[in-house]
Amino acid sequence: MLQVKLDSMKTFLPLPYEDALAPRLKQAQNWLKTATGKGSDYVGWVNLPENYDKEEFTRIQAAAKRIQSDSQALVVIGIGGSYLGARGVIECLRSPNYNLLKKDTPNIYFVGNGLSAEAMGEVMDLVQDVDFSVNVISKSGTTTEPAVAFRFFREMLEKKYGEEGAAKRIYATTDKARGALKSLADAKGYETFVVPDDVGGRYSVLTAVGLLPIAVAGIDIEALMAGAQEMHGICQQDSYANPAWVYAATRYELYRRCGKKVEILACYEPSFRFMTEWWKQLYGESEGKEGKGLFPASVEFTADLHSMGQYIQEGERILMETVVRFGPSAREYPVPYDETDGDGLNFLAGKPLDFVLQQAMDGTYLAHVEGGVPNLVIQCGKKDERTLGGLIYFFEYACGLSGYLLGVNPFDQPGVEAYKKNMFALLGKPGYEAMGDALRAKLQG
Ligand code: PA5
Repeated sequence: MLQVKLDSMKTFLPLPYEDALAPRLKQAQNWLKTATGKGSDYVGWVNLPENYDKEEFTRIQAAAKRIQSDSQALVVIGIGGSYLGARGVIECLRSPNYNLLKKDTPNIYFVGNGLSAEAMGEVMDLVQDVDFSVNVISKSGTTTEPAVAFRFFREMLEKKYGEEGAAKRIYATTDKARGALKSLADAKGYETFVVPDDVGGRYSVLTAVGLLPIAVAGIDIEALMAGAQEMHGICQQDSYANPAWVYAATRYELYRRCGKKVEILACYEPSFRFMTEWWKQLYGESEGKEGKGLFPASVEFTADLHSMGQYIQEGERILMETVVRFGPSAREYPVPYDETDGDGLNFLAGKPLDFVLQQAMDGTYLAHVEGGVPNLVIQCGKKDERTLGGLIYFFEYACGLSGYLLGVNPFDQPGVEAYKKNMFALLGKPGYEAMGDALRAKLQG
């Protein structure tokens, strides 16, 4: 289904490390399976592909159908783990130009993932004259960015459809029992979906958090879950037959022994861009703590070979590269013959574009390895629901293992609070007044 290829690793990791790491991986795996390691309250995602709530899954499918039938647009409000996975899957499986496609599913707009008035206002203009629904996603219900955006879009809906009509168009994905959003949803009668207690934001794409917007986009969420389920089975193996072991062990050794500080995730499909954003949060938030962790970065090839290629090839040798490759495209585009051959490309005439891409991938691989950048290749099958479900679960599982190898809690994010406290203090939130004065004095020098 998915293979992690390590052909270049002999050069970078000549000493055997697999046997030495195996007991630690076994231990890490056991912590994940038995929920006994650091952050054990948040490992509900491990068995999710088997244990997900089937009744809720059916409700998600029904809600998606309803939105498809009564709305020309869906506004998805969320940030971080309550945003990136859905956008990643929709762009990867439908298109980054999804809203421009001829289709029988609603346009989907993402807001509440920042505080830009420009960005939010643009979406307000775009949905102003169409029938739309809102899916507000927030586990805590109090995250500033989505909560502020929700005020605006709720007001728009209520003006357009009245309070009762709006309530039928608002779908809230939040905690099952607690929080501001849950209370509001109950009071107003919104349909609600659950972010399970034991699943953190960045591991939540295969819950209602990701599944509702993904289903609205017309993506087969059963096949997505089936792919995750298959990978869940594969990841049960206590050995290097488990691709998550291979990935976790190799990146850990490159970090620990070879001075690699940055991992770039590369893909040759532009539609994968938001999956790399999702991956960056997953690994950055899970591992970047206690002064440790590879910095997760991303590139889109071949475009970025013309911008970042120089640094990758010859800049500071702190990089390792993980390349996600998909199987051949269903689109066969032979390069056209040109009588004048002004660009000298007639030697490619008749060759499919995919063939050209393949040579670019292989050529880049060889060049980067030669330049001192270890390359791991994650070879996937066809870019479809099943493959992506498997890839998502693979990255999540490997991330859990990898965090434990590093010795950190892969399921908390204490560092995220620092900016929030400062922002609240500067905004004058009650209870933060003294802190606000101190911060303003600091800013004035
Ligand atoms: O992974 C995480 O925990 C974060 O990215 C959260 O998902 C993000 O901050 C949004 O939080 P909430 O869903 O509570 O609004």
